[in-house]
Amino acid sequence: MEVKTLGVVGAGQMGSGIVQVAANVGGLNVIMNDIADEFVNKGYDAISKNLDKLVSRQRLAADDKDATLNRIKKSTDINDMQDADFVVEAATEKENIKLDIFRNLDSICKPGVVLASNTSSISITKIGAVTGRPENVIGMHFMNPVPVMKLVEVVPGLVTSQEVTDLTESLAKQFGKTPAMCKDSPGFTLNRILVPMINEAIYTLYEGVATVEDIDNVMKLGANHPMGPLALADLVGLDTCFAIMEILYRELGDPKYRPCPLLRKYVDAGFLGVKAGKGFYDYSKNK
Ligand code: 3HC
Repeated sequence: MEVKTLGVVGAGQMGSGIVQVAANVGGLNVIMNDIADEFVNKGYDAISKNLDKLVSRQRLAADDKDATLNRIKKSTDINDMQDADFVVEAATEKENIKLDIFRNLDSICKPGVVLASNTSSISITKIGAVTGRPENVIGMHFMNPVPVMKLVEVVPGLVTSQEVTDLTESLAKQFGKTPAMCKDSPGFTLNRILVPMINEAIYTLYEGVATVEDIDNVMKLGANHPMGPLALADLVGLDTCFAIMEILYRELGDPKYRPCPLLRKYVDAGFLGVKAGKGFYDYSKNK
């Protein structure tokens, strides 16, 4: 199936990044959907600012910026997905919300349309099972920040067809990304390795072994990571890190995946990282 129009459900950090690469690098028309105008507008403005930066660095012509923005249609009505040839869901990492969205998409989208999820940890097979088209449901897991990170994990569920897997891989390439195949297993490949490392960094802080700054400096200067694990946790979102640890713990049943109590406490306090203005670091304007 030829993909001319991509639907993206969720206009937050991940969703808006996916819209940007699909419209700019991929050259697709994109329907950018969220539940309220304020979320769609915030995502759209973030894309516009990112494109301005590319123009100012002479990586994008001003005309191409305008053309990219013109390819993006803002939407707050999920029924607009009836015009999409391929949909990527990038809503909040809550299982009941994602399953509801997929039930909805299944009833709205044209037959044969692929329904992909950017979930970081929920089973693709489980998501597919709430639809009448599980062979057309697949994981398409982008990394944050989407415009910069080169990887997309492609995760077929138990009954996802080879044709859908191939299409998803080729779409990832069209967006300038390198696809990596992965089985439908908790955390897939990246988060199974990365998030327990972040959780361990939080334990290191919790147990008073080192300060926030020292933990991050150790990993930046001692392991050549581009950013420290606590700054990365703030970037990813502490709620997302917590959700991933809980799923690894529950699904794999190994105590090594227990979420650190300090991570739970920060999530309870609303200290969710960059998007909340506070996490392990303070991102408020008046800090
Ligand atoms: N959107 C678009 N572009 C961005 C951006 C964003 N949010 N953040 C940074 N950039 C661009 C900058 O504009 C800059 O572009 P330039 O090369 O043209 O100047 C370039 O990226 C580098 O940015 P900076 O100079 O500001 O800062 P750094 O060199 O420190 O890079 C970083 C920032 C790319 C975020 C880098 O620190 C990094 O790679 N960090 C690790 C990120 C990572 O591990 N992501 C994966 C998280 S896990 C995940 O997403 C999975 C999920 O399921 C949890």
